[in-house]
Amino acid sequence: MSPDRKRVLTGHRPTGPRHIGHLVGTLETWAALQETHACFFLIADLHVLTTDYHPAHLQENIRQMLADWLAAGIDPERSTIILQSAVPEHAQLALLFGMLTTTARLERVPTYKEQARELNLQPSAGLLNYPVLQAADILLYKAEVVPVGEDQLPHLELAREIARRFNQTFGEAFPEPEPLLSSAPRLPGTDNRTMHTSYGNAIYLRDTPDETTRKVMSMYTDPTRLRATDPGHVEGNPVFTLLDAFHPDRDELSALKDRYRAGGVGDVEVKQLLARSVNSYLAPLRQRRERYYEDPKALAAAVRRGTDAAASEARRTLAEVYDKMGLRRTG
Ligand code: TRP
Repeated sequence: MSPDRKRVLTGHRPTGPRHIGHLVGTLETWAALQETHACFFLIADLHVLTTDYHPAHLQENIRQMLADWLAAGIDPERSTIILQSAVPEHAQLALLFGMLTTTARLERVPTYKEQARELNLQPSAGLLNYPVLQAADILLYKAEVVPVGEDQLPHLELAREIARRFNQTFGEAFPEPEPLLSSAPRLPGTDNRTMHTSYGNAIYLRDTPDETTRKVMSMYTDPTRLRATDPGHVEGNPVFTLLDAFHPDRDELSALKDRYRAGGVGDVEVKQLLARSVNSYLAPLRQRRERYYEDPKALAAAVRRGTDAAASEARRTLAEVYDKMGLRRTG
């Protein structure tokens, strides 16, 4: 890892297998960043606990997500994969950053307000502190670039405020991390809402080709169209949005769109093409995915390697923070 490369840190909560929206929106970007940046990819397992805890599922969800990451090209030899809960400095730095952050500021974070509304329980202090822990994740490694989706921008803004406040109060320690917004639009799911695990509308990297075909054949299309001979709408039609993302032959696709608009093609034909395109796009990735998933030792080794490297870095940052804040470790 060359020292003059800018540092990137990003991550996901391990909520289970990744879907094709994660792949084209996020994972492909992460894999490409490995060419130009020093990358840290965080498995944010502590963050999962802010909204639910299912001890029986957590390890399996980590395994599913990690197999997808590696299959998508995240390379544990070139990048640092960190298991958040295995590096206690994440929690320690979050505690200290909590001292620099008012509860009123945290109550104004939009994701907190949304979650507090959606949850059927009273939100925990852990949920309120979610973005403080995220700031610790980023600043612990002094990352300068954070690739995230738009919904995460308020969290990045808080991380920047915390970095500034720390630097002003205790002396220069942290860079102000910059967000890197994905240029890929969010993919629609089979029901034309945004693809999302909790909506039950996702096509997963681990799905078999048959499952994928079944999901595609059940997709929402153009509701204004009753017969194949009716003129169809391409814009806002999720089948075509996914074809744009996965079909390799632009000319063929644009001819198909013309025929669809003119009422010359049925939805079944378009969906069959989409199922074939998605399945052939994913075929090599699915093979790798299966191999990783069936090799828990290799997965564990990838995480251990990254987490060990991260831990020594994390200890160094925490020692610096202790020192600047006037704390001393004795004994
Ligand atoms: N909050 C992020 C999400 O839900 C996950 C995350 C945790 C993260 N720590 C991070 C992302 C640090 C970027 C940087 O997607």
